[in-house]
Amino acid sequence: MSTPVRRQYLSIKKQYPETVVFFRLGDFYETFDDDAKAVAKALDIVLTSRRVAKNQRVPMAGIPHHAAENYIARLIRAGFKVAICEQIGSQPINGLVPREVTRVITPGTVVEGNLLADNENNYLAAIIIRQQRAGIAYVDITTGEFAATQMENTNIERLVLNEITRLKPAELITPDAASHQPAAPLNIPHSLYEDWRFDLDHARRELQNHFDVATLNGFGLQGKPLAVQAAGAVIQYVAQTQKQALNHITRLNVYSTDSFMDLDAATRRNLELTETIRGGSGPGSLLHVLDKTITAMGGRLLRTWLHQPLLNVEALNRRLDAVAALAGATLARSDIRTRLKTVADLERLTNRVSQGIALPRDLQAIGRSLDAVPDIQAIINAEAAANLADFVGQLHPCNDVVSLINAAISDEPPAVLSKVGVIRPGFSAELDAIIAGSRDAKVWVAGLEAVERERTGIPSLKVGFNKVFGYYLEVTKAHSERVPPEYIRKQTLVNAERYITPELKEYENLILNADERQLDVEQRIFKEVCAQIAAAAERLLATSRALARLDVAASLAEVALANNYVRPQLHTGDSLHLVNARHPVVEQMPLRDADGLATTFVPNDTQMSAEALIHVITGPNMSGKSTYLRQVALIVLMAQIGSFVPADRADIGLVDRIFTRIGAQDEIHAGQSTFMVEMVETAAILSQSTPRSLIVLDEVGRGTSTYDGLAIARAVVEYIHNNPNIRAKTLFATHYHELVEVAKTLPHVRNYNVAVAEEGSRVVFLHKIVPGGADRSYGIHVAQIAGIPKAVVDRANELLEQLEGSADFREQKEKARRVISGVQMSFFAPETHPLIDDIKALDIDSMSPLEALNTLYKLKQRAEE
Ligand SMILES: Nc1ncnc2c1ncn2[C@@H]1O[C@H](COP(=O)(O)OP(=O)(O)OP(=O)(O)O)[C@@H](O)[C@H]1O
Ligand SMILES: [Mg+2]
Repeated sequence: MSTPVRRQYLSIKKQYPETVVFFRLGDFYETFDDDAKAVAKALDIVLTSRRVAKNQRVPMAGIPHHAAENYIARLIRAGFKVAICEQIGSQPINGLVPREVTRVITPGTVVEGNLLADNENNYLAAIIIRQQRAGIAYVDITTGEFAATQMENTNIERLVLNEITRLKPAELITPDAASHQPAAPLNIPHSLYEDWRFDLDHARRELQNHFDVATLNGFGLQGKPLAVQAAGAVIQYVAQTQKQALNHITRLNVYSTDSFMDLDAATRRNLELTETIRGGSGPGSLLHVLDKTITAMGGRLLRTWLHQPLLNVEALNRRLDAVAALAGATLARSDIRTRLKTVADLERLTNRVSQGIALPRDLQAIGRSLDAVPDIQAIINAEAAANLADFVGQLHPCNDVVSLINAAISDEPPAVLSKVGVIRPGFSAELDAIIAGSRDAKVWVAGLEAVERERTGIPSLKVGFNKVFGYYLEVTKAHSERVPPEYIRKQTLVNAERYITPELKEYENLILNADERQLDVEQRIFKEVCAQIAAAAERLLATSRALARLDVAASLAEVALANNYVRPQLHTGDSLHLVNARHPVVEQMPLRDADGLATTFVPNDTQMSAEALIHVITGPNMSGKSTYLRQVALIVLMAQIGSFVPADRADIGLVDRIFTRIGAQDEIHAGQSTFMVEMVETAAILSQSTPRSLIVLDEVGRGTSTYDGLAIARAVVEYIHNNPNIRAKTLFATHYHELVEVAKTLPHVRNYNVAVAEEGSRVVFLHKIVPGGADRSYGIHVAQIAGIPKAVVDRANELLEQLEGSADFREQKEKARRVISGVQMSFFAPETHPLIDDIKALDIDSMSPLEALNTLYKLKQRAEE
């Protein structure tokens, strides 16, 4: 028969089969059986054993409870979920302390500071996909943000993937593996959550109960059953794992992905919005350039903006107005930013308070943060002209909260609640009485010896203390007869007796229990204070949202000034006009020319419209084609989050999507051929872009043979150009010089190339985009710069010369040209005679007289056939 504790453990563990159970035993969290083995291994701690029945021992591994946070963090990172099973109360019932699981920690429901990145949200997301529709809901329990959407599309998996890429959730739950499918490549911890949790009626009831409403229509959920299902599942999951967190999930934001620019996973990656292609979050990403935010809330908001560009001119102009106002008010801006430095993560702190996990210093941090609010308000209001205050929104100084915290929390409270000294003296009469009582009692006891010697006339009377009897009065046997009658004898020693008095015991009581009572009362008061602050959570969260907006706008203003950005003029037309535009990230990097000398970034213009719809950009390797393409896309994106842009002038017709495809060479994919990936992605673009989209194609078609590549490139350009449902503004960089021929037949195609200056044998890349096509690659030149040995470079040049001179080479060039012009004929011109095509395609200038003669013979021969 196993011990009662063992039986208790097993019955709890049964409810959490997939989860490591941290079972509280005194000062330790213990794990048992397989959990213990796994935990010991993952945390590198000792695996011991515990006797659970006669002749039975089971594996056990434990960690001290005060160090748990760190260990839990490591387990979560290693992919475990952890159920915290606490002792409830301190009184055993039938000899057994009751225990229950108070929270389950999963990647999406952590609240521990050391598991969270300040500037990133930590989302738990649910996905459900049914035919061509999907519901997505997500929550960040550290901030209280809760949102849901429903989407519909013939390619629903793509939309789901886009949204999940944007959110980068810490954890995903789905009813079935199929719903998880689209997100699978993202490598996000994923749990199958029971089917019935997603059941529509059940989910709806759960949401209604949670928000205490009779209908969900107020949230805008009518007609969005899948959004309801996903949101309902999220609420249930939170209830199961972090019940306290439910308190401050007070709003559900039902949104539509239609109001944001559509950015797919590949585009977010290619444009290096928040991370570089290599996966780094440091220098190299757009966020890194734009993020001069000071607060954690501001940092998170900027990241959100960056991943959700807007489609509405008015909304964007409101943001741009705020940025402009702050850019124009240098003094105010710098004052605001100085004040923001004292603002802590008010959003997460407020939620810690609501969840009942706040510590004394969290309250201090809230107080300190709120202190900044009146100053900031004053500065903003002084900038009345700019409507800045409207943009920022409700800032509440929350004086009641500040005074409460100042009054209640001592100046230097302990870091934990298990120590006394949290509550400031003077705040609670009850607490003060306990502390004063204990102090008085100590004084009284300290003075007792003298008092009693005097009173009894026993000079050797001593006051002492031991653990068994507490305080006592000791009188040597020689003086026994002078002991007063009220002394109660407690202990007899060889030559002394020890006594107590009722009064002494009373004082002793005051002294001995004082700490414990003080702790009890302090904890109770702290809870009450937290409850009062939690009642102000709405105001606090509104304030933290406003501070975040202010922080982001001030940051964008700061960046705009530092980097010479200009306010973009936004409109709903189809043109895009940039003057002296730069790549926001590359221009920040130290640039060197071919000779290794420092250079500056060369600005470029862009002029696109329905007329000049497709720009084909040719140019040597390393000349700046890719940089230019990304520069245009990034500037449009920056404008559509409300940022100023790196240019002297920017008139931008809003775009609904940006698509980028980067030729295979830059990317490594597992499992699929690079060319396959490229084609799949290109197919997606062709099916989804609209006349309001911006398409950036960099070397598409490069992953296959020249002719296939050329043919595909040509066909893609034609398709975009001719299909009225697409006609998207397109930038197409290519190595295939032959592609410039396309402009001859497609009226809205324009050729550009990157200018090169040849100074003798030296080649200088000017990085300037100029009209017209290029005709040389300078690949060998680049090889030389890259440090390929001179002998190899020389040999390559020699081979190239031979090759260019050979008939074979010219024939190939010819064939390539025919791929282009041949396709063109079949598509756009009435059937003409192939012989005429061939004559047209002849490059007489490059023929030797003998070749010309031979060609003429051949033509005549074919004409006679
Ligand atoms: N406008 C510019 N001003 C100054 N330097 C630039 C500019 N554009 C590009 N560069 C420099 O040239 C380098 C190569 O640019 P990029 O990768 O865009 O060339 P590319 O033409 O796409 O080359 P490839 O054909 O090999 O893909 C950049 O890393 C940058 O250092
Ligand atoms: Mg390139």
